[in-house]
Parts: sequence; structure tokens; C-alpha cells
Amino acid sequence: MPADYTPATIADVRRLRDTLDQQGKKLVFTNGCFDLLHAGHVRYLEQARALGDAMVVALNSDASVRALKGPDRPLNSQNDRAEVMAALRAVDAVVIFDDARATALIEAIRPHVYAKGGDYTVESLNREERSALEAAGSQISILPLVPGRSTTSTINKMLATDCTLASNANARLRLAVLGSGAGSNLRAIISAIQAGTLNAEIAIALSDQSESSFLQIAREAGLSALFVDGGANPRKFSDAAQKEIFEHLERARVDVVVLIGFMRILKDPVISAYAGRIVNVHPSLLPKHKGANAPQLAIDAGDSETGCTVHLVTAEIDAGRILAQAAVPVNAGDTAEKLHARIKTEEHKLLPKVLNEWRELGLPVRGAGQP
Ligand code: GRF
Repeated sequence: MPADYTPATIADVRRLRDTLDQQGKKLVFTNGCFDLLHAGHVRYLEQARALGDAMVVALNSDASVRALKGPDRPLNSQNDRAEVMAALRAVDAVVIFDDARATALIEAIRPHVYAKGGDYTVESLNREERSALEAAGSQISILPLVPGRSTTSTINKMLATDCTLASNANARLRLAVLGSGAGSNLRAIISAIQAGTLNAEIAIALSDQSESSFLQIAREAGLSALFVDGGANPRKFSDAAQKEIFEHLERARVDVVVLIGFMRILKDPVISAYAGRIVNVHPSLLPKHKGANAPQLAIDAGDSETGCTVHLVTAEIDAGRILAQAAVPVNAGDTAEKLHARIKTEEHKLLPKVLNEWRELGLPVRGAGQP
């Protein structure tokens, strides 16, 4: 068995397509990263192959997998992935391609059938790929993914069995920090990590505001900083954006999700998958003054004291378990801005402290006990 398998060229595949065409037969085309082959892939490929008489798989090159999935992927090199793929009974040829999209290949090969797996519809396919398929006269077939089988879930199971990693009390907490605004709490977390008073690392910083100081601070600190487009309503997140956030968190292998002034409401899949591992800082002594404008609400209520609360996040807003609080006096003549600034000074101490004590508080991390 040759160690170095040679993938097919586009010309090889085009010849295969023309030969099949002359015989009144059909070439099926599908594409993907196929980084860690599992039964879900095999079943999908069998179904795709059954749509025609031969099948070519276009594999994303290593560079394009990195661009699509992040710097830790692929796990297997393009030549290894191609060799494994070519050994499957459903696969007749494998080509490697470098672009994020398969448009150029579709134009060159003109497959009879194009198969795609997942939660796509014909309408949600990439526009360029779809017009290339229409121009080639290809039949488009969307096949369902096999539930419970995915490369990400396989990687996570492998990590979860690494007990040393999951239960090591001294391991640095991997944080995702989500914010929409000024980012002063993000700056406080970064400073605490640098000062050695918070044993953590920020795996990823996400914002729904592309121009926010939050993102700017994250970028200046050299963090992996991403904008997620949440749609028109600034307090809600589209289902697609909820899923995108979840995928970023999974890919970054995050222990704890930290919300600081994140103005969108997180829902599933994040809320369920990260239950007990999402924390928020709120500028009042909860359960008083939930929701927006808490410092103004404290002034309006004539409170002599307010403060900040670090609490776990559940589906109900500002109602999860309280982890820590710090009080701040309301002074005569306080404006909401002045009061909020003094509250933030306390937040900047309290939040890093809670995060540093995360395991001592008996709170969960990724791995043991996590799905
Ligand atoms: C903080 O006051 C926090 O309590 C609230 O939003 C504010 C975020 O401030 N949830 P910053 O962006 O960290 O400066």
C-alpha cells in the first residue's frame, strides 16, 4: 500500500464525468473537510453515491480548512484525509481544492448531481455555488446529517475523557468573553491575568457590535476577537447567530462564558450546553433592579446603597444563582453615569476574583460531567 496516495486532478475527474455521460450515467459530486472520518460521514457518502453511478469527493485543502475552522484544524493532513477518503467504497475519486467555496471545481467538472449534507436548503446554498450548479445543469440534493455524529462531538468526547485536563484544579480556566460596549471589565480581566491574580486565559472574545471598544480592546490585547452579526434587533439574536456563537465556543474549547454588558439574549443551544458555566455581571444588588438602566433605577428608588452582582446565567434574565456581590453607596447628587462608574470599579475587582475561585466554588468546567 503506497504511503503517499496521489489525489485525482480536475482533468481526471472531468474525463470520468464525460465517460459516464456518454454511457448515460451520472457523476455525483460532494465536498467538505472530512477531517476526522466517522460513521455519520460514511452513511452520508453512501447515500450521496446512491444518487448516481460514481462519486467524486472534493476535499478542502489544509489551508482552506484552517480558514474555515480555525488554527487548530485540520487534525489530519490533506494527503492523509484524501487517502482515507479514497479507501471508502462509496468514493471513486478524490480531488483537493484550495478555495473556501467549490465554485471553480463545479464549473470545471459539471457534475450531474451535487450532494450537500446538513441543515441547508437549496435556497441557503452559497449563491455563487448555486449559480455554478444551475449553469452546469446539476441536480442538487440535500441529504440530512446523521444525528449525534459530528467531528466536533468526537473531538469533545476525546477531550472529556482526558481526566487530567478536565479535573486538574490548577489548570487555567479557558474563558470566552462576550460584550457589546465599553469593555472595561474585559480590560480588568486581561489585567488580572497579566498580574497573575486570575489563573485563566481568554480563548475568544465575541461581540455583536463591530465598532465597539470591547472588540478594539480585545484586538489590541492580541486576543482572538470576533464579530457575530446578530441581526437587526439589538436585544435579540437570530437562531443562526445563536448557533454561530455555540460553534465558536465549542471550537475554542471554552470552560466558562463571561457576559459583560452583552446586550443580546442568549438562548439555546448555548444556554443548555453551557448550563452552570455562563456568568454575568450586573450593576445592581440582585434581585433588585433587574434588566437595563439598573444604576438609574437605584437612584429613582431612593436607595442609599446599590452595587454589583456576579451571577450564573439561565434562560430567565438576571435570575440565576448569585455568586458574589459588592455594595456601593448612592451619593447625594449622583447621576446614573457617576454611580455606574463607581459600580464598575467594584465589578473590575469582583468578576476576576469570582473567576479565579471558580473551581473552589464547586462550579463546573468543560470536560468531566459535560455532555
Ligand atoms: C457593566 O456595568 C455590567 O455590569 C453591565 O454592563 C456593563 C459593561 O461595562 N452588564 P463594560 O463594557 O465592561 O465597561
